[in-house]
Amino acid sequence: MTAPPVRHVPVLGREAVAMLAPRAGGVYVDATFGAGGYSRAILATAETRVIGIDRDPTAIAGGSGLVEESGGRLTLVEDRFSHLAAVCAAQDAAAVDGVVMDVGVSSMQLDEADRGFSFRLDGPLDMRMSGQGPTAADVVARASEADLADIIYIFGEERRSRAVARAIVMARRHGPIATTRALADIVSKVVRAKPHEIHPATRTFQALRIFVNEELDELIAALAAAERVLKPGGRLAVVSFHSLEDRIVKNFLAWRGKTGGGSRHRPEIERAPPSFAILTKRPLTPCDDEIRANPRARSARLRAAERTDAAAIDDGAERPAWPSLANVMRGG
Ligand SMILES: C[S@@+](CC[C@H](N)C(=O)[O-])C[C@H]1O[C@@H](n2cnc3c(N)ncnc32)[C@H](O)[C@@H]1O
Repeated sequence: MTAPPVRHVPVLGREAVAMLAPRAGGVYVDATFGAGGYSRAILATAETRVIGIDRDPTAIAGGSGLVEESGGRLTLVEDRFSHLAAVCAAQDAAAVDGVVMDVGVSSMQLDEADRGFSFRLDGPLDMRMSGQGPTAADVVARASEADLADIIYIFGEERRSRAVARAIVMARRHGPIATTRALADIVSKVVRAKPHEIHPATRTFQALRIFVNEELDELIAALAAAERVLKPGGRLAVVSFHSLEDRIVKNFLAWRGKTGGGSRHRPEIERAPPSFAILTKRPLTPCDDEIRANPRARSARLRAAERTDAAAIDDGAERPAWPSLANVMRGG
């Protein structure tokens, strides 16, 4: 059964685009094109040019109408946003005036049963935004019990991660766990939800989705790439959907936006001049009306900053020690 497609409502879209302060003649990157809500809003400022990136081929195909409407001002590129700098260079835009990201999964992806993102709809256990690489079913079939527990704990913040991993390993002995319903049923047996709490499989599904799409690694790399491609005075605006993502954005901007002192992680390094000036001391959050209209918006956070003229800080993109997709699929 396929749910009817739901039009994506761009969360904090107006605020995110306002942070970019688009101006005529400016070049902007919409790193998460989706249904094109942010791109459309940027293009509303005359004579802007937008490079829209999405790793989902259906999002790129769905944007063809807007490309036509834009009269040559919108270019869409199917790629990962961690490749943002290379994408810009290939579009003759080595330096840009703004980068906006609305990270995570789109409503269109969530609401399409065949994409396998949702525990509410039965479909193949897929979860790949790009349709390439290992699926969630592959991860659930191959990962060791210890890796599964780590994945579900780190990316899902599921306190019962060990019990869930154990239940998955027991269940897969009897045959592949191939559907969203099958996985949701396995998780529901070991994670009990009280009435009014989120569905017991919410955190496990979130974890697998983030892991399969390497979402946090992508975000870390994309922030560093944005720092390299933004002109002095160029703006970065990032909307994130949960605390794991927001923490990455917050820490990145805190590190890049501070003067004096050393890094908490690398006190031996003398701090370079700040490469960003923070525009949002506190993150912006959706108003009550936006949350009522779109309950998925409730945990959204917008952070923004303006590029200074200091050089990009190349700190080798510090990556926390979480399991990597390639290692887990190799079985090591
Ligand atoms: C929340 S939606 C964006 C919605 C968009 N702002 C709009 O107005 O319709 C996120 C989109 O980003 C894409 N995406 C997520 N991670 C990505 C990545 N690492 N590289 C490229 N696209 C990505 C997803 O495929 C999805 O279409």
